Amino acid sequence: MRVLGIETSCDETSVACVDDEGVRANLISSQVDLHQHFGGVVPELASRAHLTNVLPVCQAALERSEWRLDDVQAVAATAGPGLIGAVLMGLSWAKSLSYALDVPFVGVHHIEGHILANGIEREMQFPCLALVVSGGHTETVFVRRVGNYERVGTTRDDAAGETFDKAAKLMGLGYPGGPVIQELAERGRPDRLELPRALQADGELDFSFSGLKTAVRRAIEALGPTPREQDLADVARALQEAIVDSLVEKTARALDARAGEGIRGLYLAGGVAANGPLRGAIGRLASERDLDFAPPPMAYCTDNAAMIAWVGREKLLRARPDGLDLAAFARGGIDSWA
Ligand code: KG4
Ligand code: ZN
Repeated sequence: MRVLGIETSCDETSVACVDDEGVRANLISSQVDLHQHFGGVVPELASRAHLTNVLPVCQAALERSEWRLDDVQAVAATAGPGLIGAVLMGLSWAKSLSYALDVPFVGVHHIEGHILANGIEREMQFPCLALVVSGGHTETVFVRRVGNYERVGTTRDDAAGETFDKAAKLMGLGYPGGPVIQELAERGRPDRLELPRALQADGELDFSFSGLKTAVRRAIEALGPTPREQDLADVARALQEAIVDSLVEKTARALDARAGEGIRGLYLAGGVAANGPLRGAIGRLASERDLDFAPPPMAYCTDNAAMIAWVGREKLLRARPDGLDLAAFARGGIDSWA
């Protein structure tokens, strides 16, 4: 089945073409330059940019795939969660296309896309546990099968990616913060400062990063107005270690909490899944527990439409399409998404 997928939930306009052989095209028009000036994503600007970009990106994806418009057999789009105006742009575009071409339409939950992206290049083993870590989400999700999700633990405050981004901003390193902090941390010395790991009490499955964020702010302020690069690298290293430790510890606990479910795979998803030390640590946890794992391809970690087209195809092979009345949503956990 040839599925065209559209993802516009935040600041990337992405269109992908997927068929039975795999991903034919996965094009992303990033708005990073547009928002950088404001130090974060401006929702109204994001919506307008999606409106301008979606048609040319769609045409380019079709060209790259060597598909004509009438080769498209189904259309999938992110229905949420995300910036509502941004989601609406891609979703409305997808519905119009499905109506005009008279082909099925299917809506995809953004987090479902991130998780099932692990199945694009190799088969996933179900049931599985996924650690979803991005700029807006940090959660462990038990996945019984495609379409059946239960959230195990979630963040009580900030997301892991947000914590990387805020620390980078305090250090004057720009956006997005994760990649620059990871690079800087490589030059950091071990054990130069101790940063907190929150919610350590027995049985606690949730994450919390706000205390860590405050501790990092204090550590940076203590370095004075012109900090030395080596001191910043030490902070970056301690921060990355604290985030990775917390993520791995709560993932291990989520596996314990679902020990009776016959879990066969452990997967990483979302933008922070690009983090090298996190990929290594989750890989080690998976091998200790004898679970299937492979680090997700970088192209499918950050927001992309290949994951949306892929899930659309997976769902259409198993279930009926959605109606054109499917609503866009800004917030909504994966549990409530059937
Ligand atoms: O999934 P994503 O592209 O967008 C959201 O849905 O949020 O994730 C973006 C997040 C940003 O917070 C960015 O700093 C983080 O992923 N990120 C990383 C790395 N690459 C991207 N965090 C840590 N290490 C990285 N190498
Ligand atoms: Zn995302």
